[in-house]
Amino acid sequence: MIKRRNFLKLSGAGLLPVMASTFRAFAQVGNTIPQKPGLAISFVADGPEYTPEAYVKKLQELLDKRGIKPDVYGKGGAVTELEGKLAQLTGKEAAIYVPTGTMANQLALSLLSGTNTKIYLPDNSHIFRDEADAAQSVYGKRLIPLAKEAPYFTLQQLQEGIAYDNEHEVFKSGLGAIAIENPVRRADGRHIPFEELRKISAFCRQNKYPLHLDGARLFLAAAASGVSIADYAQLFDTVYLSLYKYIGAGGGAVLAGEKSLIDKMGHLIKIHGGTIYSNWTNAAMALYHLEGLPERLKKTLTKAQELISAMNKVNSLQATELENGTNIFYLTPDNTIDGKRFSGLLREQQILIRNPDAQGLIRLQVNETLLDTDINQLIHLLRDTLAASAKR
Ligand SMILES: Cc1ncc(COP(=O)(O)O)c(C=O)c1O
Repeated sequence: MIKRRNFLKLSGAGLLPVMASTFRAFAQVGNTIPQKPGLAISFVADGPEYTPEAYVKKLQELLDKRGIKPDVYGKGGAVTELEGKLAQLTGKEAAIYVPTGTMANQLALSLLSGTNTKIYLPDNSHIFRDEADAAQSVYGKRLIPLAKEAPYFTLQQLQEGIAYDNEHEVFKSGLGAIAIENPVRRADGRHIPFEELRKISAFCRQNKYPLHLDGARLFLAAAASGVSIADYAQLFDTVYLSLYKYIGAGGGAVLAGEKSLIDKMGHLIKIHGGTIYSNWTNAAMALYHLEGLPERLKKTLTKAQELISAMNKVNSLQATELENGTNIFYLTPDNTIDGKRFSGLLREQQILIRNPDAQGLIRLQVNETLLDTDINQLIHLLRDTLAASAKR
């Protein structure tokens, strides 16, 4: 059986703050919800996930320690402070709070493309695959997907796509905008090589093609590549950042860009029913988590490397890094191990981890919950759990 002492060691003083804040994700992995709330480490999310209790407690703590100023319809208080901070971090003239990333992407592309209808974008992007055809049905845009089954499109693929349409269309319509997603959610969070982005951006500027970045998780790309948020952002006309995927807010997004464009957003957000009376809870949580975020994510990824090499020294386990990966890794127990039992037992010990997929791969998503973990103790626990998961 699993040695309980290992879990007790793992859940020692260093882990307690993490345990309180992150167990919500258990609900997402199905039927192994622990008897006791709390978990040591989560390998299933990009950042901290709060229970309602922990969220309210954190807001109360922020209110007590530093005060929170409310906004009114997205103006003033914590929201204006957040917009200023993200404008500064992206190096853009202005930034605006938007209730969702979907709305930020759609409104940005609509504004950038004006009356031109064609928008080139990655086939595997959230905008193409996961925004319910909003661009087509609400904004009258024609999305043209590039690089099917590749993590991202190259400059050459973009040029070929544009040339193909120019050649094969009799009644030419103008190119409205180009969108890129980085890191790429449907490619296991891989980031796009900066050199390729630079080439695409130079081509777009030369041809006056507006360029939008869906940078929902851009801080993860920056931590992995060493390229700063501002260096990424300066290649694009508009940049969207998510506030909830790993920045601790309950929801929300920010769009940054030139002031003249961002100034038009408020009116459009209202037209689309997105002007919410109070947004300060999201803004206050995001402001808090943004402090020191680049450093924490860098440390998380360094620690993940340590963990991966330690895992690779364990018999029956193989841990794999992805080319251009950010925070996602694959763990493969060998064929002597019952992988489902292995991950199930780990969840019982407060290590939140997915079941293996059809190929036997367990997708590990690392996040800040790794920071307080003692790698040696975790490895001990993995060894014990493997022994208890051997096929009979
Ligand atoms: C890459 C990417 N872009 C945009 C979005 C949309 O964000 P929201 O849920 O705030 O609309 C998501 C959400 O999952 C995403 O992963």
